[in-house]
Amino acid sequence: MDTLLDVKNLKKFFKTPGGMLHAVDGLTFNIDRGKTLGIVGESGCGKSTLGRTVIGLLSKSGGDVFFEGRNIKTLTKDESLELRKKMQMIFQDPFSSLNPRMTVSESIAEGLIAHNICKNGIELNRQVSNLMDTVGLASRFALSYPHELDGGRRQRIGIARALALNPKFIVCDEPVSALDVSIQAQILNLLQDLQEEKGLTYMFITHNLSVVKHISTEIMVMYLGRLVEKSPSDELFEHTLHPYTQALLSAIPTVNLDGKKERIILQGEIFSPINPNPGCRFAARCVYSREKCREIDPEINEVTPGHFVACHFMEEINGIHVK
Ligand SMILES: Nc1ncnc2c1ncn2[C@@H]1O[C@H](COP(=O)(O)OP(=O)(O)OP(=O)(O)O)[C@@H](O)[C@H]1O
Ligand code: SF4
Ligand SMILES: [Mg+2]
Repeated sequence: MDTLLDVKNLKKFFKTPGGMLHAVDGLTFNIDRGKTLGIVGESGCGKSTLGRTVIGLLSKSGGDVFFEGRNIKTLTKDESLELRKKMQMIFQDPFSSLNPRMTVSESIAEGLIAHNICKNGIELNRQVSNLMDTVGLASRFALSYPHELDGGRRQRIGIARALALNPKFIVCDEPVSALDVSIQAQILNLLQDLQEEKGLTYMFITHNLSVVKHISTEIMVMYLGRLVEKSPSDELFEHTLHPYTQALLSAIPTVNLDGKKERIILQGEIFSPINPNPGCRFAARCVYSREKCREIDPEINEVTPGHFVACHFMEEINGIHVK
């Protein structure tokens, strides 16, 4: 497989009045070129911080990020500038990420101008018009302002902006959560078409497990800054092994063939990500928790090829034996 992004022991801590907040705490994973890694987990578990740290919008507190085989901390200034073009982000709320005083075409042109991509105004206009076409924005909207457009069209501007510099990797941070359900499918289809056409690689962050199942090649489940389970998408839904993932998936509103579906309601307090206790971060809410869980942080192990789980009692809980 052709790995585009390789992340090793990535950490991002924030200094807060109460101590160090461990937003991303030692994540290791990679993403193959042209694939989508879905990131799921509750609000505050560190999904956006992870996305922003990977593409360099936030400085990391530890670990390494390799892009196309090169450690990005070893790049020269010029190489880093080139890399910035290759890694882009699409945000959840297109309204707040767009400048309200810029027209659609000005917004899309911004990155092209900043990076001096076009030789002259004619070429700039042509590129902007191509990008509008690519994301399905009719040319009549070129002089419109964001507030004059609906959420779907505003997100199309966000996508055009991300595509302007011809990236290879895009972090999509909840790109459809702010949109009406009817428009969500259109934007997801657009993202998938663009991936196929341009060979793009995505990190796709979402609360919506149905969306992540639909769009991801692999899924990574986070809990309070840690990686608790990672697996190919279908496998995760078929063999859900971590107690936290089991609770998350049980909340998807679908009905099993026998018409019943038991929802696991999580109880107990969420540990603080500030100066976190030793042990499993999920221990306070896990029905299987024992003394060992509160004392020793479980390592992440490969259970079946490509399926990783961090839980001391995974075999017992799932009635399986791993050789
Ligand atoms: N700039 C910051 N300073 C201090 N703490 C921060 C900062 N940014 C994020 N955090 C904290 O880091 C943790 C992870 O936040 P993050 O926004 O990455 O979570 P998330 O999983 O994206 O949540 P959501 O699903 O609500 O978007 C949270 O506890 C948050 O309060
Ligand atoms: S390590 Fe213990 S607390 Fe953590 S998920 Fe496994 S059983 Fe639950
Ligand atoms: Mg977020």
